[in-house]
Amino acid sequence: MFHSALRAGLFAGAVFSASFAMAAELAMVSGDTGNGLAFLQSQLKKFEADTGNTVKVVPMPSSTTDQFGQYRLWLAAGNADIDVYQTDVIWAPQLADQFLDLTDAAKDVVKDHFPSIIESQTTNGKLVAIPAFTDAPALYYRKDLLEKYGKPVPKTWEEMAATAKEIQDKERAAGAKDLWGLVFQGNAYEGLTCNALEWVKSFGGGQIVEANGDISINNEKAAKALEMVKGWVGTISPPGVLAYQEEEARGVWQTGNAVFMRNWPYAYALGNGADSAVKDKFGVAPLPAATAGDKPAATLGGWNVAVSKYSKHPEEAIKLALYLGSKEVQKQRAIDQTNLPTIVSLYDDADVAKAAPIIPQWKEVFMNAVPRPSAPTKVKYNEVSSLFWSAVHDTLSGNGTAAENLEMLEAKLTDLKGAGW
Ligand code: GLC
Repeated sequence: MFHSALRAGLFAGAVFSASFAMAAELAMVSGDTGNGLAFLQSQLKKFEADTGNTVKVVPMPSSTTDQFGQYRLWLAAGNADIDVYQTDVIWAPQLADQFLDLTDAAKDVVKDHFPSIIESQTTNGKLVAIPAFTDAPALYYRKDLLEKYGKPVPKTWEEMAATAKEIQDKERAAGAKDLWGLVFQGNAYEGLTCNALEWVKSFGGGQIVEANGDISINNEKAAKALEMVKGWVGTISPPGVLAYQEEEARGVWQTGNAVFMRNWPYAYALGNGADSAVKDKFGVAPLPAATAGDKPAATLGGWNVAVSKYSKHPEEAIKLALYLGSKEVQKQRAIDQTNLPTIVSLYDDADVAKAAPIIPQWKEVFMNAVPRPSAPTKVKYNEVSSLFWSAVHDTLSGNGTAAENLEMLEAKLTDLKGAGW
């Protein structure tokens, strides 16, 4: 009895190791917001079971800026301990030399993704990463509070600020002492570049650096947009908003302490979670515009999966990247995480639409989203963005006027540009 069980066990073991002879121990880095890491782990279990590989996840801070700083150092040092990186949409031109070309490996699946997203991950003909999800922000609003005060969903920033103020004042008077009108991402990091690009672009103030490489940010419309937002800090937005990233904004919102929030779609699923004070009480709309009839602007975000050229297991690592960008994983991601797929057909998928109505609703928004100037500024994008978010943060903190700070920013960007980007 014992012997035959043992023999059966040994036999199964032999089959197991034969079919998984090439199995590898992979390491992947990922920072994420909400329960993104837990979701990743759940998907990796399936990959491990299917391939026999194991994947260790090295968790990173959720700030994309902090991640980038660390990855750039590791990759410059030829770090072979990390095989796979979860990468922000803006990184491809900056890190292209350190990642493997996935063109061949992905040749059968690229046609399933939005061409613009594949293009964003292609540098000099090299496919640097496989898209995992795309991102475009929403104005989250409290349906119950807008209804209570008879207010429509605001279409302009001015209307949003007036509604925020009125509801904040009246609700506070009625005892909701901690309520604020609006939360957003005001910390000095990449997230502020995203928020500020939306304010500036919606005012007609351009895209910081235009597609042809021209530095356009020093203009009156951009200054006007930033002065408007400065007026929000400490009135409709908590003074602490200047230290908020995505998760701090969501924290205030999800405990029921904000009328409006600017955030990415991931906050939709979490906001409707069982532990959320705003479950079933909120809606999402495109961000406001400068004046009625103007176009709003949403910054294009998104995450991808890249393979380090220093990986000792490139084949298995590429399989992992393809798996994490696959339709199967993207569908589950859309359903569980309300992350926007990069695979076109998932926008017509009935299961997705039922579980996550924001997804089909957001196709238009992300297709019209504004890219940050990572393509024209190439390897200098991070410096460009960091000079921009610093100028914005200074302005919002009362450290110089918008006009002064944008003038200085233009001079610094011109220096950085030198003879060309
Ligand atoms: C989101 C976006 C990403 C952006 C980041 C800024 O994660 O997907 O592209 O850089 O927010 O905080």
